[in-house]
Amino acid sequence: MKQIFYGFLALCVGLSACSSSPDTVPVGKQRVFRITQADSAGRMFSQIWTKPRLESLGAQEILSEYFDRAMHRDETHFSAVAFSRLLQEFKLIRGEDAVLLNCFDDYQGVLPLQDILRYDLRLATKIKLSFGSRKPDWLNPLLILVPDGKHPPFQEQFMTANIREIKFVRLNDYYAPLKEMAGTSVDALMGFEAFKDNCLFCHSLMGKGGNKGVRLLDVYDFSVESGRIRMREDFNDFHDEDNDQDIKQFVTARQLKGIVTYLKKFAAKVVA
Ligand code: HEC
Repeated sequence: MKQIFYGFLALCVGLSACSSSPDTVPVGKQRVFRITQADSAGRMFSQIWTKPRLESLGAQEILSEYFDRAMHRDETHFSAVAFSRLLQEFKLIRGEDAVLLNCFDDYQGVLPLQDILRYDLRLATKIKLSFGSRKPDWLNPLLILVPDGKHPPFQEQFMTANIREIKFVRLNDYYAPLKEMAGTSVDALMGFEAFKDNCLFCHSLMGKGGNKGVRLLDVYDFSVESGRIRMREDFNDFHDEDNDQDIKQFVTARQLKGIVTYLKKFAAKVVA
């Protein structure tokens, strides 16, 4: 499991150099990040925050077993602020129930506000690895951190790093246009769920999700059997256990079929 998690995390944040978003600054150099929400009319606006401003909410020196376990490290020290404290700075008036975490490396994480509170998640502003420990390029604040004593499931969302924007959303609204594409087919709906939980972080659809991986609808012709087979073969070849990006272990063969069914429906609607 450690391996799995490490691989997944490395993938999430490891390919920093390929970043292509317009407002990207060199990794490790970012001094500011933005926090975005909707106003009462539904228009999005951002506040620019600096690390000192975030730290002024009450930074603490902490350790995280969760982080050390996932990263095979010991005694990594962090300076971190309680995410719940940051949330107090915002008045949410549109029923927002989650944050999207947009990262410098084009990964997009999602955290329900409930999880932030339940697990008392922290935002690390400084990371001090123990002596002799190599720092991977991508390991930069802001970093989501699980404090000791809390035990969320072992998942990469709970360690999203390199965050450049925190954006408040309503999860149902956010996913609604993507879900609609599944229509009423049970298989396609199952495929949608599997896609959103395992693929969307890196393979975007309709501008949602991350862009570390290609846009699958651009690369494969889902309207023909050969295109669908090729996508499954490529997936199995690429995302296997030899790869840092071993996604195969997270999805069953049935889910993968569901994903293909979903993308086929999606492609048909986009073309129509
Ligand atoms: C953490 C990021 C990440 C996640 C999650 C992820 N992928 Fe990928 N995927 C990539 C990257 C990076 C590549 C290689 C670059 C590329 O060709 O897109 C890739 C490649 C692929 C390819 C081969 C594309 C090609 O051009 O060779 C397929 C197919 C694919 N992914 C499908 C999926 C599916 C289906 C899921 C979910 C079950 C998924 N991926 C989850 C990042 C990810």
